[in-house]
Amino acid sequence: MNPSESISTSDLAQPIKIRLRNLTKSFNTAGGLVTAIDDVSLDIPTGSFFMIVGPSGCGKTTLLRILAGLDTPTSGTVEVSAPAAGRPGNSMVFQGDSLFPWMTVYENAAYGLSMRKRPKAEIDEVVGHYLNRTGLTKFADAYPHQLSGGMRQRVSIARAFANDPDILLMDEPFSALDEQNKLLLQEELLRIWEETRKTVLFITHSVDEAVTLGDKIMIMTAHPGRTKQIVDVPFERPRNVLELRARPAYGELVYSIWGQLRDEVQSARMQDEQEFKA
Ligand SMILES: Nc1ncnc2c1ncn2[C@@H]1O[C@H](COP(=O)(O)OP(=O)(O)O)[C@@H](O)[C@H]1O
Ligand SMILES: [Mg+2]
Repeated sequence: MNPSESISTSDLAQPIKIRLRNLTKSFNTAGGLVTAIDDVSLDIPTGSFFMIVGPSGCGKTTLLRILAGLDTPTSGTVEVSAPAAGRPGNSMVFQGDSLFPWMTVYENAAYGLSMRKRPKAEIDEVVGHYLNRTGLTKFADAYPHQLSGGMRQRVSIARAFANDPDILLMDEPFSALDEQNKLLLQEELLRIWEETRKTVLFITHSVDEAVTLGDKIMIMTAHPGRTKQIVDVPFERPRNVLELRARPAYGELVYSIWGQLRDEVQSARMQDEQEFKA
């Protein structure tokens, strides 16, 4: 089966954008069958900022790859409500560098629109807007190797939004950045998202990041990944990251999610230790 054929697009009754039912993914490896995701069912509301948090190796990237159509589920179903005509289904932002090194910042950000043969004036306008929103206007003609890691991730974000997808899939996009850059990029992402209200599925291993950005947080169990709990984040928007983090209610939510995650992180560590011994 072609990966993209595993995703059915339909007119899911709004406001659900992505519906997973009993999604399971196993890999055949030299050491036997590895179940990465086990029976995950999930509804992601249209226009929501949906976070998935879980320990390393719990299947987060696998889940995102299936949603992006890069891989197929072993069993279960993925339904995504169809995008408006002419609009791409999804754009992905990865943790590491995924920019084209031979293209300038502008060309990277314009890539999706150029591929869709949009008129030059439209590309200039949209790309100009997102480069401005990410503070990159002055660097439009620079090449990725001339930029810091934080700036390169800004380009990835500008590129993803300029492509105007129905859904943004983000796989730990800020985890390689230092704390200060992370905070600035979180704030910029919030500002851009508040303008566009796209459906975002954002994966992180950081509880702080999940509570700062998200409307809902799915906590995953350690390997194999299952849904442990889905938590609502009650904070209003627009959000100011620093102000939010100073609130007692923020600390309480982080604390309670950590309480759930700690068992899973410990269990992931024990699995690593067992594999090391074996
Ligand atoms: N292509 C693959 N072949 C074999 N095993 C894989 C493959 N991709 C992921 N896995 C395994 O599936 C599990 C989940 O991996 P992954 O989705 O990358 O986790 P996470 O992103 O949460 O760290 C891990 O045990 C990993 O080793
Ligand atoms: Mg991953």
